[in-house]
Amino acid sequence: MSTPSTMKAIVVEKLGGPEVLETKTAHPVPTAGEGQLLVKNNISGVNYIDTYFRTGLYPSAKPEILGREGAGTVVAVGPGPNTWNFKAGDRVAWLGTGGYAEYTAVPAEKTVKIPEGVKDEDVIASFLSGLTVLSLAKETYAVQKGDWVLLHAAAGGAGFLMTQILKTLGAKVIGTAGGAEKVALVKSLGADYVIDYRSEEGKDWVGRVKEITNGRGVDVVYDSVGKDTWEGSLEAVKKKGTIVWFGNASGPVPPLPLARLTPKCVKVARPALFGYIDTREEFEFYVNELFRLLQSGELKVKIHKVYPLEQAVQAHLDLEGRKTTGKLLLRP
Ligand SMILES: NC(=O)c1ccc[n+]([C@@H]2O[C@H](COP(=O)([O-])OP(=O)(O)OC[C@H]3O[C@@H](n4cnc5c(N)ncnc54)[C@H](OP(=O)(O)O)[C@@H]3O)[C@@H](O)[C@H]2O)c1
Repeated sequence: MSTPSTMKAIVVEKLGGPEVLETKTAHPVPTAGEGQLLVKNNISGVNYIDTYFRTGLYPSAKPEILGREGAGTVVAVGPGPNTWNFKAGDRVAWLGTGGYAEYTAVPAEKTVKIPEGVKDEDVIASFLSGLTVLSLAKETYAVQKGDWVLLHAAAGGAGFLMTQILKTLGAKVIGTAGGAEKVALVKSLGADYVIDYRSEEGKDWVGRVKEITNGRGVDVVYDSVGKDTWEGSLEAVKKKGTIVWFGNASGPVPPLPLARLTPKCVKVARPALFGYIDTREEFEFYVNELFRLLQSGELKVKIHKVYPLEQAVQAHLDLEGRKTTGKLLLRP
């Protein structure tokens, strides 16, 4: 089938709330440039980072098609030597930009073939999020058997996967999540303790973490909530412990005077996935580990909902409204 010249895409022309996600039905189909592949997307992932580009928390040129991952079929291979032997017809998963669309021109270097027997939906439910949590648990702080770990937003897209990875590494996991349903979900993944930090008794989640760890605090905090939790995370970490800030779901952590880290000799990391998968070798290392975990059944995915592409506004409303568990997907 030949590739059309126009497509359906969700385009952001100005910064703002979910309402700035506009459905265009005759947007030009991109062409594959040097080192790129043109992919007809079967499924695209929605990630919290998409909201940062939409609001302007993270800068990006507008107009812009959001979406940093997808799965589908290669329909064209761009010029140049760096296309990694991909060919038209390959079923692939990719990381890049412009995923909220029927077609995306993606970097071949950040694209992989999906193994037989693994569904596109399951890969994208765990691709950007899964690669992130693997790199956080293996490199940002190398989690050891028996470590006490505090994980915020443990029922979310990244949190759902991270809870499982932490348990496979033998950590003792204290998760936080908002509401009884989310708490039950995180418990079902094997978390040792789960605190509903939005409930009346969970408001003192720091006190509860101290109680659980006999006053010592946790070895590491994985905090993607940011503004609302960073002070508590600093209190809940043990002496000589580590805090990994990797997201801003409630807003960014304000500038932190380094002297605040001194009393407990705390280490702080502020990682981003792309720092860990810069080279093809690094990318394949984490992808292979992710596919191994998916194929062995050690890592389960949870898809909150597959939204039709034109319902991207609703997907953002649900994600930012804290109404979701697991991963949100768009079907172009
Ligand atoms: N650094 C990286 O490379 C990297 C890569 C991937 C993801 N991330 C970060 O990881 C986090 C999770 O991403 P995700 O896509 O999987 O999203 P998500 O966890 O599915 O959704 C965000 C969750 O954060 C919690 N939350 C707490 N305060 C909130 C607030 N004021 N507004 C909205 N949500 C709030 C909510 O869970 P509760 O209701 O349970 O509180 C919500 O479900 C994000 O911060 C994202 O930026 C970072």
